[in-house]
Amino acid sequence: MTAPAPSPQPSAPLRLLTIETTCDETAAAVVTDRLEVLASVVASQDKLHERFSGVVPEIASRAHVERILPVIDEALRKAGLKLGDLDAVAVANTPGLAGSLLVGLTAAKALCLACDLPLVAVNHLQAHIYACRMASGRDVFPCVGLIVSGGHSNIYRCETAINFTPLGGTIDDAAGEAFDKVASMLGLPYPGGPSIEKAAREGDPHRHRFPRPLLDDPSRLDFSFSGLKTAVRYLIAGPGKLGAGSKEHVAGSGSRVTRAQPGHLRSGSAPSSIADIAASFQEAVIDCLAGKAELALEKTGYRTLCVGGGVAANTRFRTRLEESATKHGHELFVPPLSLCTDNAVMGAIALERLKAGKLEDLSLEIHPGPERASAKVT
Ligand code: KG4
Ligand code: ZN
Repeated sequence: MTAPAPSPQPSAPLRLLTIETTCDETAAAVVTDRLEVLASVVASQDKLHERFSGVVPEIASRAHVERILPVIDEALRKAGLKLGDLDAVAVANTPGLAGSLLVGLTAAKALCLACDLPLVAVNHLQAHIYACRMASGRDVFPCVGLIVSGGHSNIYRCETAINFTPLGGTIDDAAGEAFDKVASMLGLPYPGGPSIEKAAREGDPHRHRFPRPLLDDPSRLDFSFSGLKTAVRYLIAGPGKLGAGSKEHVAGSGSRVTRAQPGHLRSGSAPSSIADIAASFQEAVIDCLAGKAELALEKTGYRTLCVGGGVAANTRFRTRLEESATKHGHELFVPPLSLCTDNAVMGAIALERLKAGKLEDLSLEIHPGPERASAKVT
């Protein structure tokens, strides 16, 4: 068993170390129960995975092993604290890559055992929503939570910080995954989201009318991005030309590359460009995400929308969400960019579990894989 929950002193805030290693960012933060951030360190692995156009799980877990202790040390140094000054340790143990999750959880357990500290579990997706609480400094619950990341596109009814109910989610690819894959098809660098966004700035979002799967079905709060991704693929290669040789059709990068493309693109009268495809694809994804978020608000009767995850860093998406909030009169919380992508500050959600006495012992396990939330909601 780990130590019991510490009792808060009016003069001395509780100090919590949070650890995040669910995917390819090694992160640690120190936060207090007054929600002050004393330190936040994020070591990105983007460079390691870039040439594979996606996260390679084995590379990610090995990099976490190398970085976890220096990252924790750096967080403590920045906070001006020693291990003995901590009151609890929190770690994201689900969802995520198995090897990556194990590194964070093992480090957290070792610290708790060595320093006799309580251990708190963090659900990485719920933490993404809590980033809105941290960024705004205000209570954001109850709210609809929309998480749009590399592995997830899920919608939750968030009654409180410790009571989340899944309302819907993707039935195939996640939004960020679709951004990454389409970027790869277009020859744009990894991670794909920022690359598509950059290319899209110079493109026409109405140049190609890509499908908006499930958007017209009011009985579902689900997403499907796999068909949309395939539609982009067909546009690039031309119908019936998706064989091995089609790779050359999408090589090349740059946000305003206008080239004679084989297949469907070449047959159009006006030259198409990577920028137009990027902008049209981005618009289709945003339509789906914003549309289902509005539907979730309508179905729950909640007046607050909190959005988290890497895709929430997308400027066009943020603008659309703001327009929708103004039009429908609901409150919108989207964290600043540094709290949209993976970080350990959002692990402060563990303070809510700590307050509710929800502690773990050292038998805590990882729960890898995606958290599927697809459901029929009437
Ligand atoms: O939340 P996150 O940092 O990690 C996961 O938990 O997956 O999300 C990473 C995802 C990647 O797929 C990345 O391409 C996407 O977020 N992303 C973006 C943008 N920045 C990151 N997608 C669209 N536009 C962006 N500006
Ligand atoms: Zn994430």
